[in-house]
Amino acid sequence: MKALVTGATGFVGSHLVEELVQRGHEVHCLVRRTSNLQWLKGLPVRLVYGDVASKESLGAAVAGKDYIYHVAGVIQGKSQWAFDRANFFGTVNLLRACWRYNAGVRRFVLVSSLSAGGPSGRRRPVREEDPPRPISLYGKSKWKAEQAAGEFIGRFPLTIVRPPAIFGPRDRGMYPFFKALKKGIVVRVAGERKANFVYVKDVVAGTILAGEAEVAIGQTYYIAGERAYTWREFAQTAARVAGQAVREIVVPARVVRAVGVFNSVAAALTGKARMLDWQKSREILQPYWLCDTSKAKRELGYQPTYSLEQGLTETIRWYEEEGWL
Ligand SMILES: NC(=O)c1ccc[n+]([C@@H]2O[C@H](COP(=O)([O-])OP(=O)(O)OC[C@H]3O[C@@H](n4cnc5c(N)ncnc54)[C@H](OP(=O)(O)O)[C@@H]3O)[C@@H](O)[C@H]2O)c1
Repeated sequence: MKALVTGATGFVGSHLVEELVQRGHEVHCLVRRTSNLQWLKGLPVRLVYGDVASKESLGAAVAGKDYIYHVAGVIQGKSQWAFDRANFFGTVNLLRACWRYNAGVRRFVLVSSLSAGGPSGRRRPVREEDPPRPISLYGKSKWKAEQAAGEFIGRFPLTIVRPPAIFGPRDRGMYPFFKALKKGIVVRVAGERKANFVYVKDVVAGTILAGEAEVAIGQTYYIAGERAYTWREFAQTAARVAGQAVREIVVPARVVRAVGVFNSVAAALTGKARMLDWQKSREILQPYWLCDTSKAKRELGYQPTYSLEQGLTETIRWYEEEGWL
C-alpha cells in the first residue's frame, strides 16, 4: 500500500513513517526544501517536496496514495494566523488536493489534538461527542481543521484522531522538562493538575488502527495512554526512571501567567516564538486535560501497550544516548 505522511520530518510523523515502513507500506514523505531530514535518514522512503500552505505543491503528493496521514502541523506560534496558516489552511489545501487528485483514497487521517476538544472537568474526561471548547490559538486552529475535514465526509473516507500531550524519543516539546529533571529540578504549577499523556508509539499504533478500520470512517477518536496522571505523578515516575533525586519547585499560577505574558511580549519584539507564551500558559493553567479513550478501545480495539514507566524509560534512554541529556 502507498501511504503519504505529511509532517514526516517531525516528532510524531517520523515515528509513524518508521512504523508504516516496518509494516511493509511504500511510504512517501511530504517534506519542505527547508526540512531537516535527520529522522528519515536510512529509511526506504520516497520524498515528495511540498508545503501544505501552498496548494499548488500538493497534487503530485496526494495522487495515487492509498492512505494519507496528515500529521504536519505547527504547535508553536505567535498569532492565530501562524497556527491557522499550517493547521487550518494547510489541512483545507490537502483535503482539496485529495478531492481533486485522489478522490479514491482509501483513507485520509487527520492528526488533530485534545486541544481541539479543550480541557475537561475534574471527574469527567472529554468524549468525542462533547462540543469542542478549544481555549488556545493552537487548539482553535486544530478545531477549525477538524471542521474543514468534516465538510469532506461523504466525499472520501476520512478519520480524525485527537491525542493528548505526546512524549517520546525526538520530542522537543517536553524536552525542557527532562533537561531540568536531569539537573535535579522539577517545576510544577501549584494545585492539582491532571492530564492524559501518551507515548508516541501508542499514538502511532492508534492512528494506524483508526486509519485502517472500516468503522472509523467519518469518526473521531481520542488516542491516549492507559490512564491520566497528575503532573506530580508524571514527574515522580520520570525521576524514578532516570534514577535522579529531584527538588520540586512549586510555582504559583500567577507567576506562570506573568511569564507567559512576558514571553509573548518578548516574542512580539524579537519575532522569535517562545514555548511558554500566554497561550501555552492558558493551557498549562487548566487543571484537567482528561480524555476518554473508550470509543477507540471499543470500536478499534485500541489498547495502549506502554505503561507510563515504560514510555518514560525509552524516552529518557533515547535522550541520554543521543547526548540530549
Ligand atoms: N507533540 C504533541 O504533544 C502533540 C499532541 C497532540 C497532537 N499533536 C499533533 O501532531 C502533529 C505533529 O506534531 P509534532 O509534535 O510531531 O510536531 P513537530 O515535531 O513540530 O513536527 C511538525 C511537522 O509538520 C511539518 N510542517 C509544519 N508546517 C508545515 C507546512 N506548512 N508544510 C508541510 N509540513 C509542515 C514540519 O516540517 P518541517 O520539518 O519542514 O518543519 C514537521 O515535519 C501536529 O499536527 C500536532 O498538532 C502533537
